[in-house]
Amino acid sequence: MNIPVNKRLLSGITPSGDGSLHIGNYLGAVRQFIELAKSNETYLMVADLHGLTTIQDKKQLQQNIETLILNELALLKGFMTDDEFNNIIFFRQSDVPMHTECQSIINNVTPLGLLKRAHAYKDKLQKDVMEDDINVGLFSYPMLMAADILLYQADIVPVGKDQKQHIEITRDIAGYFNKIYKKNVFKLPAPFIPEEVAVVMGTDGQRKMSKSLGNVIAMFESEEVIRKQVMGTFTDPTRKHVTDPGHVEGNMVFTYLGFFGEPSRVKKMKELYKEGKVSDVKVKEYLYESVMTYFGPARRAYDELKNNPALVKEILARGQERALTIAIQTMKQVRDVIGVTTQYSFFDYQKPVSGKTISIDEFARVELRVGKVQEAKNKEGSDKLIRLVVDIGEENPRIIFTGVRGFGYTPEDFLGKQFFFITNLAPRKMMNEESQGMILAVDGASLKPQFVSAEGMPVGAKIR
Ligand code: TYM
Repeated sequence: MNIPVNKRLLSGITPSGDGSLHIGNYLGAVRQFIELAKSNETYLMVADLHGLTTIQDKKQLQQNIETLILNELALLKGFMTDDEFNNIIFFRQSDVPMHTECQSIINNVTPLGLLKRAHAYKDKLQKDVMEDDINVGLFSYPMLMAADILLYQADIVPVGKDQKQHIEITRDIAGYFNKIYKKNVFKLPAPFIPEEVAVVMGTDGQRKMSKSLGNVIAMFESEEVIRKQVMGTFTDPTRKHVTDPGHVEGNMVFTYLGFFGEPSRVKKMKELYKEGKVSDVKVKEYLYESVMTYFGPARRAYDELKNNPALVKEILARGQERALTIAIQTMKQVRDVIGVTTQYSFFDYQKPVSGKTISIDEFARVELRVGKVQEAKNKEGSDKLIRLVVDIGEENPRIIFTGVRGFGYTPEDFLGKQFFFITNLAPRKMMNEESQGMILAVDGASLKPQFVSAEGMPVGAKIR
């Protein structure tokens, strides 16, 4: 299969089941993300709103979302260089509100019949659920997925075969919209599905690997769990004794070894297996070892990420910011084309405050003044706080606390000196007194705060 270059690519994963990924997700999707991201602009989304079709318990959803974020990031970080990883736009669907707005608009160009033919809905009907009991979210799931893809004007959507129909539906919807509004607003995306991993079969050898069927091999579970999953893998039912010649075709252990084993060793093992010279247990042991070795870097990345929530948040904030830029561009065009923009319009998309970024207007609201410390004392009953009485050029001085005794600061470090203070904060109770502002500090070596001197400046002067 040809690897595309210089295209825009989007894909998503739903935090269903318990939110964890299995080797089917890896081979069917994430492995392609990693390969394609090297030469394409890549948007990867945690499709948390999609999870609502089945998960309607707050705690479980929260946990699933976090698990999925860590699983996916660990795979990306485990198998990519930092530079490659930093090119990926990794974000959460619910951090970009335009997904649901877009869905709501494209609903109106989509015939009901298109959705009635969707597999996910039809499969559900064939199970034990009555049509009237299927939630509308599940029925309109392909609409949200179409919105996910169309918002970013994606050229390519790498997915497993089970998602192919959703991309065809997305193309249809884009076509209807462009035709109705006589403008090529939406790009028609193409699926990217390598044949050899289009459907990764489960350890039962019968059905697609899927968390809900319990036929998975996980990547971030404990060694015991993964060993158990591997040991339970379907081999050759015709083989009763170790000495019987075995079959390797359709034998899931060899299928997986084809991806994770060392090729020459796998070849040798296949020969021995066909001659009845190696036991099922031995080949499974080798599969277990291979899986653990293969995913070793990702498992290490998982532990690092789990211990560093600030980093995970930063990655998501950066992703949100970049995703919003494109989503806003598309929705501006959509709003314009459908006719909600009129001479009375004033609405404009503002990038919501994302992670660390605030707008210039917001920053301008911060009032920073030069203050002179008139009094400085350790706060009684606290081992952190120093109580400052500060002249900031107002009629009365302010009481401002700083919690830095733990860093070795004493009142003498402040007394009689001038610093910068933030003076328009809502007062905050500290112990039994209100702090009426905050002293400006800079992180120093090993995060010890350093205070910015304002010596020689006019007391009360505002800083801009
Ligand atoms: P989801 O979360 O069910 O699966 C994530 C990805 O893993 C692939 N996959 C498999 N591939 C091969 N063999 C398997 N046994 C196997 N199991 C899972 C899936 O095909 C998928 O690529 N609706 C999507 C998520 C989504 C999305 C999107 C995808 C939401 N918005 C926009 C692409 C673009 C889903 O539920 O995938």
